[in-house]
Amino acid sequence: MNVNSDPRGLAAASTTPPPAIIERPQSAVPRNLRRYLSLDDFEPTAKRLLPRMLYGYISGGAETDASVRDNRQAYQEYGLVPRVLMDVSKRDTTTTLFGKSYAAPFGIPPLGSAALCAYRGDIVLTRAAAAMNVPMILSAASLIKLEDVKRENPNAWYQAYLAGDDTRVEAMVDRVAAAGYDTFVVTADVPVPPNRENNIRNGFQVPLAITPRVAWDTLTHPHWLFGNFLRTVVNHGMPRFENMDAAQGPPVLSKNLMRNIGNRDQLAWRHVELIRRRWKGKLVVKGLLAPEDAKIARESGVDGVIISNHAGRQLDGAVSSLRTLPEIAAEASGMTVIVDGGIRRGTDILKALALGADFVFVGRPFLYAAVVGGEAGVTRALTLLRDEVSRDMALLGIRTLDEITPDMVRRIQ
Ligand code: GLV
Repeated sequence: MNVNSDPRGLAAASTTPPPAIIERPQSAVPRNLRRYLSLDDFEPTAKRLLPRMLYGYISGGAETDASVRDNRQAYQEYGLVPRVLMDVSKRDTTTTLFGKSYAAPFGIPPLGSAALCAYRGDIVLTRAAAAMNVPMILSAASLIKLEDVKRENPNAWYQAYLAGDDTRVEAMVDRVAAAGYDTFVVTADVPVPPNRENNIRNGFQVPLAITPRVAWDTLTHPHWLFGNFLRTVVNHGMPRFENMDAAQGPPVLSKNLMRNIGNRDQLAWRHVELIRRRWKGKLVVKGLLAPEDAKIARESGVDGVIISNHAGRQLDGAVSSLRTLPEIAAEASGMTVIVDGGIRRGTDILKALALGADFVFVGRPFLYAAVVGGEAGVTRALTLLRDEVSRDMALLGIRTLDEITPDMVRRIQ
């Protein structure tokens, strides 16, 4: 089935209705994860376990964090208008995206350096996503070979950070295709490195430099130092940026990393067209906010867009994706429309879908969950969010996600 003609997968849902989700009793949850009751609960523990520089890297945005704040604020500005007495006993959170049926309307977006934060982070995230049957996008800034991640999760997507250099673009597309990926995501909002002052203050940079501040930061976080960093070095060698280019990238302690991320400011729509001609699978552009850019994406033959301000990590003051979503959705004409940024609750997801999104991605909380509990932690977080969606659907008076309509949300401020 094509997502374009049936964006919420109602046809699939109505022919083979899966059983309504039955919430697991607390006793089925590993003891150490029982106190985590919502996505926000993972952050304080992750903050304590991680070196300050890594917590700052994950949690922070660019400059004043205005876009980080707007990503949350935009969801607070809408309230839900439920319908009642609808017999919601047979609820179904299934969502069809790019012809595949997923267990829920959310997935895990690219999370750079995940394996620097959590032991085998990319593997942990992708295995939990595969087990739950939700999409997971492997970041170009990841430290585990994309071929290895694909083996763990045949449905993983790949996200590229590309320089505007045809030869390198083509070589990367070919490597991802050879590994068997079927969805290629081009990130569009990183022409230059952002200004993340918290990284500079904490001494976090790539390549990593072992300054006295960084040494103290890591030595005072032994859970991370022994449980992740040294364990990784012993078992898998010094982590490297494996997936930035067709060839293996430099180690995280390398001096020549900058060479690899140069020329991104030359990337242009003509490279998207070049990829479209070469890439046979689904093509997604991530990191646009302007309806005009969504239109160009559609005209370039892109299958879907992820409306995003990069979690507030690039242009400080860029609006939340929720703010331009309705305009972009209205003009999508069959192109899949996805949003990310600031989503923490099932109710946020339902608001985004009501405003026209086909699907959403949720980032930081899943990385915190990986830091706290590895794969079991991510599974706990995914399950909490999926159960919230199911419960909130009942309370909103809908049985399938296809039943969400724009009049189920109202602006409240
Ligand atoms: C990576 O995508 C980052 O925002 O740091």
